[in-house]
Amino acid sequence: MIPFKYGVVVSGKDFCGRTESIEEIKTFVLSSQNTYVQGERRIGKTSLVFETIKRMKSHRLLVVDLLALRTPEELCSRIIKQLILLENKASFLGNLVQFFTHLRPQISMDPLTNLPAVSFDRAVSVTPESIEEIFELIKTIGKKKKMVVFFDEFQDILKIEDAPWLLATLRSKIQYHDQLSYIFAGSIRNEMDNIFSDSESPFFKSAIPITISPIEQGVFSSFIIKKFRLAKRSIKKEVLSKIFEITANVSGDILQFCEALWSVSAENEVIDDDAIPKALQLIFAREHRSYEMVLSSLSHNQQKTLTGLAKYPGCQLNSADFLKLSGIGQPSSVNAAIKKLTDRRIIFKKANHYSFSNPFLATWLKSFM
Ligand SMILES: Nc1ncnc2c1ncn2[C@@H]1O[C@H](COP(=O)(O)OP(=O)(O)OP(=O)(O)O)[C@@H](O)[C@H]1O
Ligand SMILES: [Mg+2]
Repeated sequence: MIPFKYGVVVSGKDFCGRTESIEEIKTFVLSSQNTYVQGERRIGKTSLVFETIKRMKSHRLLVVDLLALRTPEELCSRIIKQLILLENKASFLGNLVQFFTHLRPQISMDPLTNLPAVSFDRAVSVTPESIEEIFELIKTIGKKKKMVVFFDEFQDILKIEDAPWLLATLRSKIQYHDQLSYIFAGSIRNEMDNIFSDSESPFFKSAIPITISPIEQGVFSSFIIKKFRLAKRSIKKEVLSKIFEITANVSGDILQFCEALWSVSAENEVIDDDAIPKALQLIFAREHRSYEMVLSSLSHNQQKTLTGLAKYPGCQLNSADFLKLSGIGQPSSVNAAIKKLTDRRIIFKKANHYSFSNPFLATWLKSFM
């Protein structure tokens, strides 16, 4: 069995550390205090919320993922779908339709996947009344058994054209749910800040922030060493240090690297420095198509800026050195490229420099471009 999981929510034996954050979230949930969890991509936000509520045993978790949300209708259908999955009863489906007078969703079960499908009449559009109906339903279900409502990738609500209206409507409903606890998570820091810290936003100061940092290195190292031992391998400390460095301490990337190291090693092997290039080659072999697709979708200046960022990470972006090394004519071209690369979430701003969302893309660019 593969000892390292990545790209999925982890729990139980696959979940490492974060005891303080778990206690913090528990306390907030028990006092029905709304919170928002923010941290980098793949750092472990979703797993932390799942694991906390699982360990609490007292609450159910209603998860609504807003990733790539496009319309208010989609938000409504995602909430209804999750409510159906949470209740998991045929009788609930029948009752559900009676609940709505405004939206009138058509609900069916996909016979192949056994998952609910929700659609709306084209003529019907979402109004504050329809949102109210959905939140009344959440409240009613929350009264039956304690419930935490978890809006994951919440910043993607800003992608909807009517975002200000929708945010104001959501906020006006949520504030009366004093028996429920809401958790919002997101990885795009400036967008989450726009929602929760901008005084003009309806969600201003409506939830307590919890920032998720990397798992403490000592704790994570012991966890990884134990996993390798269970897979009949041992790993040298210096290899672990290199993994933490290459991945900038991002949990999901660390475990992806460990899975590759496990794949390129054999039972009873001591994993040393020689295994690092082999593991990277394996990751590149699996991912190079997506790297090439990213590159081919960029303009020349964007490609040069991205490659420059990978090759000369310490270099000031507007400096003459960076322009010369990267072969770019004007500082304004770098600025325009950085904006585009950030908008496309290929890179992101971290303190006062830019980092790659996928550290392996940076390593690949450094090696091959
Ligand atoms: N506490 C943890 N213990 C062990 N591994 C973890 C932990 N948290 C996260 N991971 C690793 O990181 C991966 C991503 O976790 P998760 O999906 O929870 O992160 P996320 O921050 O929600 O990511 P995204 O930004 O993609 O939504 C997991 O598949 C796992 O490999
Ligand atoms: Mg997540």
